[in-house]
Amino acid sequence: MSKRLGVTVSRQIMDSQKLHPEATGELSGLLNELIVAGKIISAEVNMAGLADILGQSGKVNIQGETVQKLDDFANATIKRRMEQCGYICVMASEEEEEIIPVLDGYEGKYTLAFDPLDGSSNIDVNVSIGTIFSVHRKLSDGVKGTEADLLQKGSLQVAAGYIIYGSSTMLVYTTGEGVHGFTLDPSVGEFFLSHPDIRIPAHSKYYSVNEAYTNYWFDSTRKYVDYLKEIDSETGRPYSLRYIGSLVADFHRNLITGGIFLYPRDRKNTTKPEGKLRLLYEAAPMALLVKEAGGVAITDDGRDILEIVPESLHQRVPLIIGSREDVETAKKFYLS
Ligand code: AHG
Ligand code: MN
Ligand code: MN
Repeated sequence: MSKRLGVTVSRQIMDSQKLHPEATGELSGLLNELIVAGKIISAEVNMAGLADILGQSGKVNIQGETVQKLDDFANATIKRRMEQCGYICVMASEEEEEIIPVLDGYEGKYTLAFDPLDGSSNIDVNVSIGTIFSVHRKLSDGVKGTEADLLQKGSLQVAAGYIIYGSSTMLVYTTGEGVHGFTLDPSVGEFFLSHPDIRIPAHSKYYSVNEAYTNYWFDSTRKYVDYLKEIDSETGRPYSLRYIGSLVADFHRNLITGGIFLYPRDRKNTTKPEGKLRLLYEAAPMALLVKEAGGVAITDDGRDILEIVPESLHQRVPLIIGSREDVETAKKFYLS
């Protein structure tokens, strides 16, 4: 019998489409276009350390443009590819104030919200960064998508995921049938299934929070983190701290190894009373992924992230996300 070949991401997308006889192939088309954008960004990220050197010799990138800042590049790459893919009607990007229309004649039935390059403070120091995406079905009647089409709660997402540019480039996504991870083989430019049906361990020994903000924390965060640091071998404490400062990288590690990530409200920045992370581009897609993998995502007052109806495109939300039992324990501290 011949050996089974590696499953490509397009094969996986096609196979899951077949489970839905009513599917038109548009979601598959959308995901495939996004993946191409991700590969282009991945290639550029891998060249980042050389950008200055090559830039001096007038480097021209794959789009025929001179070198630009990596987050602008990622934003422009996704925008340009998706505005003419024919599968979406409107977009929103963490990098842009207003909604992004698609080209006339190319309107499709989905919406796309994305964080083109999450963890951008890590770009220059060779630490993992990523692209996060969230897809909803269009609700409004007209041809053009509207802001209201983007302001839907996370539980209505039809797809969500991220591409992480790390020690290797990986795509992790869900269309509501589990979470699957693919690793890019750069020699052939193809994503192969490397992590089928990812399940986040129910209990962990890792926590991720910006601990430098301790003195800005409210009591609930302080008490919970103090609890994680207590010595108690029976419950596996103290936990270990892992904080990269790229949500995508912190989330990815916790998804694979188990862990809890917190970005709660604090007293640090009164202009961001809801914490720092954005509901549409960061919290909601990660919440769908974690739920599909058996984990939980809540706010620091115990609300289900997936049930929050966004009021504005750039709304921020306090986020507690990760292993089920850990989030349940955290919730007790936040609700007591
Ligand atoms: P972005 O680079 O897209 O602006 O997001 C950065 C976010 C997120 O990736 C990370 O978890 C968080 O900022 C880190 O913030 P602190 O530096 O305040 O810990
Ligand atoms: Mn981000
Ligand atoms: Mn970003």
